Order: sequence, then structure tokens, then C-alpha cells
Amino acid sequence: MALESFFNPKSVAIVGASRQRGKVGYEILSNMVAASYKGKLFPINPNADTIDSIKCYPDLKSIGQVPDLVIIIVPAGVVLAVMQQCAEIGVKSVIIITAGFREVGREGRQLEEQVIQVAKQAGIKVIGPNCLGVIVPANNLNASFGGDLPAAGAIGYLSQSGALLAAILDMANANGIGFSKLISIGNKADVDELDIIKALGPDPATKVIAGYLESITDGNAFVREAEHISYVKPILLMKSGGTEAGAKAASSHTGSLAGGEVAYESAFNRAGVIRCDSIKQQFDYAQAFANQPLPAGPRVAVITNAGGPGIMAADAIEQLTLAFAKLTDETVARLASNLPPAANLYNPVDVLGDALADRYQFALDVVLDDPNVDTVLVLLTPQAMTDAAATAEAVVNIARQKEAKPILACFLGAGKVEDGIRILRQGKIPQYDSPESAVAAIKVMTDYVRWRSRPKRVVKLFPVNRRKVENIINRHLRQGMREIGETDSKEILEAYGFVTPKGSIATTADQAVSIAQQLGYPVVLKIWSPDILHKSDVGGVRLGLKSDQEVKDAFDLMMFRIPKKRPDAKILGVLVQEMCRKGREVILGMNRDPHFGPLMMFGMGGIMVEVLKDVSFYLAPLTAEEAKQMLMNTRTYHILKGVRGEEGVDIEKIAEGLQRLSQLVTEFPQIQQMDINPYVVGPEGTTPIAVDARMTLQE
Ligand code: COA
Repeated sequence: MALESFFNPKSVAIVGASRQRGKVGYEILSNMVAASYKGKLFPINPNADTIDSIKCYPDLKSIGQVPDLVIIIVPAGVVLAVMQQCAEIGVKSVIIITAGFREVGREGRQLEEQVIQVAKQAGIKVIGPNCLGVIVPANNLNASFGGDLPAAGAIGYLSQSGALLAAILDMANANGIGFSKLISIGNKADVDELDIIKALGPDPATKVIAGYLESITDGNAFVREAEHISYVKPILLMKSGGTEAGAKAASSHTGSLAGGEVAYESAFNRAGVIRCDSIKQQFDYAQAFANQPLPAGPRVAVITNAGGPGIMAADAIEQLTLAFAKLTDETVARLASNLPPAANLYNPVDVLGDALADRYQFALDVVLDDPNVDTVLVLLTPQAMTDAAATAEAVVNIARQKEAKPILACFLGAGKVEDGIRILRQGKIPQYDSPESAVAAIKVMTDYVRWRSRPKRVVKLFPVNRRKVENIINRHLRQGMREIGETDSKEILEAYGFVTPKGSIATTADQAVSIAQQLGYPVVLKIWSPDILHKSDVGGVRLGLKSDQEVKDAFDLMMFRIPKKRPDAKILGVLVQEMCRKGREVILGMNRDPHFGPLMMFGMGGIMVEVLKDVSFYLAPLTAEEAKQMLMNTRTYHILKGVRGEEGVDIEKIAEGLQRLSQLVTEFPQIQQMDINPYVVGPEGTTPIAVDARMTLQE
């Protein structure tokens, strides 16, 4: 496995192992010992012969062998010298715990760069600096100062915050949650989040990858690789630092620059990464993935000893758009044969308040056999005769016998269910503190299964005229122009198969009339000047002109008034344009994110985008399904589809427009931003028109 010597080192040197209890260097050595590390341990401290009767060495060279892993815990000013020693003796893997690097400013950053340069030249992989360390319970490795060695389990956890990892460890230890590996990546000066995710992807001990991130080093590579790994196992991430306030906190914390929130959301979507909002939510989900099989579908059956929680679960199932399993007649008959007459035999199956473990065991056994059931949720409230511990044992027993379908539990209460919860956890049955959080975990599992089985992404390539676009862009770049105006933007769009309104420039009123006659009435007149960006502000746009006379008058008025208003502007004439038929106005756009590349936008035009901000985003390049999903993700999608007798618009055509635009911005990375606004769309079978467009090139 990649990073093997970090996870399973046969020998570990601790440089800066301290004699003094409470110091980081002491705690790491003592954690290694307390975890019963099986390999050779070399504490390095020039001022000590032994620490807690373990032999110490004055420096790395005097060990007489090359340790698989070196942990550095000396003050920041000494780290470079220690790294040079590592390079000299041929060490290949180093964890730097020490803080005081990039996160403290310019000098720290320089020091970090020097240390990493030495490491790179010597082919040394480095985790950290400014990290908590690495923990692998199954290998008795606790190379950290994060506390006791947790139980072994199937969650691989990475964290950009060491302190958070320490809190997670504490919480996990209290709740018996196990890990395959825990890695604190700190400033990720060398090994970053993607290296860890790539190492955990093929790791047989890891069933689910979870983590906390403040930034992503290489957005494009992350999306590409994480998408591959998500097919193999789920990735659950908490990402902070997205909002402006959060970003400030992040930069003072680990010195990382956070990217835009929307871009992260889109990137995670594309890569199948499941975003979590809190530690609790993350572990709610992680437990389910780590300990249970994946559900084959969305149908949930509930077994309960109380009506209320059953209804709460049913509401959550409906709200989260899961399906309430309809039990077969055979299941109902089997349940009837052995449950009391007052029991509810339909979903939720109510085994009644006086149910003992045997009733639960029977009902769970029967319901799991039902072909209409994909997941079973077992609810329990502690009533007078309830035996939570025996019921938990019964659930665990059945789960061992019938491993194909996921079983989740929610034992509500505190002291009276405590023993039961412990037995559930030991038996790998995820336990939740509310029916809603259990159902949320089922939802996430179901969505993951659906994501994984979606058709392969195929991005359609349309035949286009790239050369033409290249010429326009190059001309602008040569002239140092970053803004591409309406005419050139439209030419670019036409080269990519968009239809724009027909029209030409007139320099006299007579010319305007003859162009209008050729186009057919009604027409639009727009003042044509490279110096006037906002034409309507100077009275430079007239819509719906219906006759020769109206065109003539409008032309004369513009040519008379505008030069007075804007004497500085060079006026080249007036654009006479066909008037687009009425339709719905939408916006297609793109903004290039510095981390993840082109982020496509779709929104309803006019008031919807300005007031309601009803827009959706997705990373380019788009597949047809993703383009359609962008439309569906807006709140106003049903308006596009047509409501209350109003005719809908051609959804497929809008989706095609988004795909064409996505192709354009993917093929031309010089485009930083662009908008087609409005993009006028009509009923099915009509061609949408790109009425106005703007582009900005990268600096
Ligand atoms: N090689 C080996 N050992 C050395 C050494 C060298 N070149 N130079 C000094 N040492 C020994 C010292 O003798 C000392 O041992 P002692 O206590 O037995 O005398 C030990 O290394 C530690 O050195 P000390 O100067 O006492 O440092 P410290 O323990 O006060 O601090 C760090 C060292 C690394 C813990 C501190 O600089 C630091 O970075 N703390 C923050 C860590 C952190 O928060 N990381 C991020 C977590 S998310």
C-alpha cells in the first residue's frame, strides 16, 4: 500500500522524545509504548540515556540502522537539521509534529519550504508539519499525542485539524467507534488529503473514508481521483472555511486558502463525495457504511415497540424521499402467526410496548426475509418490561445470521437502554439517538448506491468551429483587451452552434430602414459604440419598432441625443436586429474557479435570478444528465416545465445549450467568465436564441 511505512513501520525513531511527562515528545513515546507497538522503538534525545527505562540515542546516525519511520518533535528551529540527518542516513518516511511553520507567517513558510526541499531531494515523504500524528489500531501504532489507542474498525479518518482529531478520538473511544487508520495531515506540506484518500482507497481494512478538510490542494486532481475511489468506497467529508468568515479562520489556523463554497459543493457532487455538516452527522453516516452492507434500494421497514417513534421514522422516510416498504402478504401472515392480536402487522411493525426480546427477534427475522424490504430500522423505547440488553442481543444475533440487508437501530432513552446500546455497538449495529438521524443515514447509503450505479459519464462533443473562436480570443489578447463585447461574444457562440438574433449595423436612417425590411418587422435598434457598455442608460435601445417610420425616427433620435450625452464615445452606427419572439428568459453562465476550473451556472432570468437567486451550479464538462439536473436543481424548474395550463419550454434544448457552453469553456481555458443573458427559450421544437452575451478573458 502507498504510505505503508507510515501505517505499518517495522521500526520507529522518535526525535525529541522527552524525559518530561506532559511534553509532546514524552506523550508520543508513551503512547507508542501503551499501544504495545510491536516493532523497534528508538527514542532520540542527546540529553538522555534512557526514558522510562527505554534506551535513548543521541542522534539518528547512532541507531545503526535506518528506521522505517521517523517522528520529529523537536522545536521548529531544529527540524531542518534533523531532516538533513534523515536524508543523510536514507530515511524515507517522516512525520513532523512540530508547529511554527506556514501557519505562523512568512518566516515559518520559508522554513517549511526549506525542510520540504531537503525531503524532496532525498525522496522522503513527509506528513505534517503541525500535525497530531498517525494512528493504526490494528498495527498497535499510536504515533500521535492524541490520546488512547482507539478500537480497530473500518473507518479511515484524515484531518487537517489535529485538535479536531483529538476530539474525535475522545468521542470515538467513549462510543466504541473503531478506525482502520487516523491521519492528521497538518499543513500538508508534502503528503496531502488526496495522497491519503488514494492510500485508503485500496486499503482492505478501510470500508469508508471520512475526514475534515479546510482546503483542497489540487482541485482538478481531487475531483478526478475521488470520483474513482467513490465507486469503490464512500468518502464522507466535512469541509470548513467555505464562507468568508470561515476562510479567515482557516488561514489563521492552518494557513490554507479556502475556495468558494459553491465550487466545493459542485466538486463534491461530481466526485460522489458525501458532505457532512457536523461531526455527529459524519459519524452517524460513517458507522452505517462501516458496519452494514449497502441497501439494494430505498424501501425501509420499521420495527418498533411504540407508535410515536414509528410515526417519526415514517415521517422522516417520506420527507427524505425514501420508500416505505410494503410488506408482502406472506410476511404479514407470518407475523400474524406469532405476534399478539393487537400488534400492527404492517409497516411500521408494532410489536407492542410489552414486547420482550423474543418478539423483536421473530419480527426482525421475518421482515428481513421480505423481498420488498431493503433496510430495517429497529426502534425501541424503554417501557416497564422492556429488556434493552436482551433485545440488542437478539438484533445482533439475527444480523449475524442474515447479513445481506442493512439493519440500523435507534434505542431511545438513556440509563435504561445503555447496556443495549453497548451490545448493539459491539455487534456492529449502528445505533442512533433519534429515528430521524437513523433515517438520514439510510438515505445517504441509498443515495450512494444510486450514485455508484448511475450510467458512466459520457460528455458529448458537438462539432464546432474552434479556429474561429481562437482567432477572436487571440485578437483580444494581442490588443490587451479582456472584455469581449456583444458582437464578438455572439460570433463565438455561433461558432459553438448557438443561434443569435440576426441583424446588421446601419450608418444612415435609410440603411436602417432597408435592413429592417429585410429582417421583417418588428425590429430592435441598438446604439453601436465600443465606448458605451450600458446602452439603455443612454437611451441606446429601442424595442418592438413596427414600421419604416418608427425605425427612421428612432435612428434619428439616437444619433441626435446620444452624442450629446456621451461626447467622448465613438459612435459607429446603429445595430438593427430582429426582435426575438416572446419566450422564457433564462441565463447560462460560467465562472472559472481557481481550484476546480469552469463552474457552469443555470438560472431563471430577470427577477428570479436577481431577487430569488434561483441558480444552480455544476462543474464542466457537463454530461446531458448533469445539464438536465442543473435545471431540476432550481426551485423554479416546474415553471419551465409548464404550470397551470401555461406551456412549458424545450428543456432538452436548454440542456444542450449548457453542454455546448461547457464544451466552449473547457476547450478555451482563456475564458474566465461568461454569461448568455437572456437566453430566450420557447416551447418544444423551437430554437432558443442567445439574445445577449458577455465574456471576460483571464488576466
Ligand atoms: N534531537 C533530539 N532531541 C532533541 C534535540 C535534537 N536535536 N534537541 C532537543 N531535543 C530534545 C530535548 O532535550 C527535549 O527533551 P527533554 O525534555 O528530555 O529535555 C525534547 O527534545 C523536546 O525539546 P524541547 O526544547 O523541550 O521542546 P518542547 O517539548 O518544549 O517543544 C515541540 C517541542 C515540537 C513540542 C514544540 O516546538 C511544538 O511544536 N509544539 C506544538 C506541537 C503541536 O501543537 N503540533 C500540532 C498538533 S495539531
